[in-house]
Amino acid sequence: MDGKSTIKWNPFAPDYFIDPYPIYELCRQHNPIQKDSFGNILLFKYRDVAPILDSADFEVSSLATYFESKESYIFKNSPQCPFLAKTTNKWLMYLNGDIHRKLRIVLGKVLFSYNYDKLIQEAVKDCIRHFEDFKELDIVDFSKYFIYHILSQFIGLKDFASLEKVVEFSNLAAKSQDIFVSKQMYLKINECFIEGKGLFAESNFKSKLIRELDGLEFEEDDYYSLLAVTLMAFFETSKDNLTITLYTILSNPNLKEFVIRADQKEIKLLTEECIRYVSPLQFTVRINKKDVTIFGQHFSAGTRFVLGIASANRDEEIFDFPDEINPNRQVNPHLAFGGGTHLCLGALIARKEIEFGLKPMVKFLQKFDIDSTQPLEWGNQIFMRTLESAKITLR
Ligand code: HEM
Repeated sequence: MDGKSTIKWNPFAPDYFIDPYPIYELCRQHNPIQKDSFGNILLFKYRDVAPILDSADFEVSSLATYFESKESYIFKNSPQCPFLAKTTNKWLMYLNGDIHRKLRIVLGKVLFSYNYDKLIQEAVKDCIRHFEDFKELDIVDFSKYFIYHILSQFIGLKDFASLEKVVEFSNLAAKSQDIFVSKQMYLKINECFIEGKGLFAESNFKSKLIRELDGLEFEEDDYYSLLAVTLMAFFETSKDNLTITLYTILSNPNLKEFVIRADQKEIKLLTEECIRYVSPLQFTVRINKKDVTIFGQHFSAGTRFVLGIASANRDEEIFDFPDEINPNRQVNPHLAFGGGTHLCLGALIARKEIEFGLKPMVKFLQKFDIDSTQPLEWGNQIFMRTLESAKITLR
């Protein structure tokens, strides 16, 4: 482990956010199991990450409990009412055991009571119509518009819950889970969580949740927590996935041609490959319930493991030419949707967004050129990989 290699993962290195993949590769090759200064164990290889995601010997750690322990420090001398723990209290990805199982079944039932084929196909048409006369546009705005359109059709948002408000809420909610977050940022997230209570309208989605949760003692804040996690999980990852996928395909003439000619079966394979390549959620965390040995190294129970999902998805021992999008990759056991009991609940929806959207979107966007005079802007988040601006102009 550490000490033997000078290669260390350092998210504060210049240009890390522009492209974290070279350091992931170095870590996989020279120092795949590292300890950071907080005692977290960082894992970069597929052989280590995949089995932990699937294992019942590891669990997630409660984000709400973490916030509870930090709130007196974060809000010291601040007039703000702390709302971080309350809002994240029912976020499925941070719950274990019975409550997790129950909420997963409930949210799954409610989510899949909607006809996503129809919602997504309508959103594709509406999005293309909306941007039809634009002479220049940002692929990020295009993706945001599309995902917002789908989300707002089912979750139930108040009229003033504009695209901008949803974007801000979703982004700050995603940031709340990042590994190094400043006190100032937590204060901003808290403010946004308090305001966000007003975003959701009484809706069919909420009534279905209430019906399905009958028997569980749920308060208004608990429903809000579930709505907040649905919005964030739905919006943030899908938007990042689509943006980076579209940008990568539009930058590569062969891929662009491939998409335009592809049949539905080829689009399905390519969808899976793009999700592997993009891996919007780059890391996740697990704690071991008992002592474990990983590749000859012993870890006592309660160790915090930071799992490099995105790095594992580029592991050359599993994927040939991992840094390329190969539209014909037939075997693709990627981990972009996680695994085990916390496997992404929205994976089917996320796949459909690309399967239905990719071809018509690339056909529409091919008349634009990537604007090389305007640099790409990447978000400075470690756990989520976010493209914040990618401008294109009409040829
Ligand atoms: C490309 C898009 C997406 C990606 C890459 C993605 C990725 C992930 C990953 C990696 C996890 C597991 C986290 C962990 O184990 O720590 C997860 C969980 C989850 N995702 Fe997604 N997601 C996507 C889209 C969606 C969508 C559209 C929804 C719809 C609401 C959604 C809802 C959820 C939920 C509720 C969980 C928690 C599941 C649980 O803990 O039981 N995701 N997602």
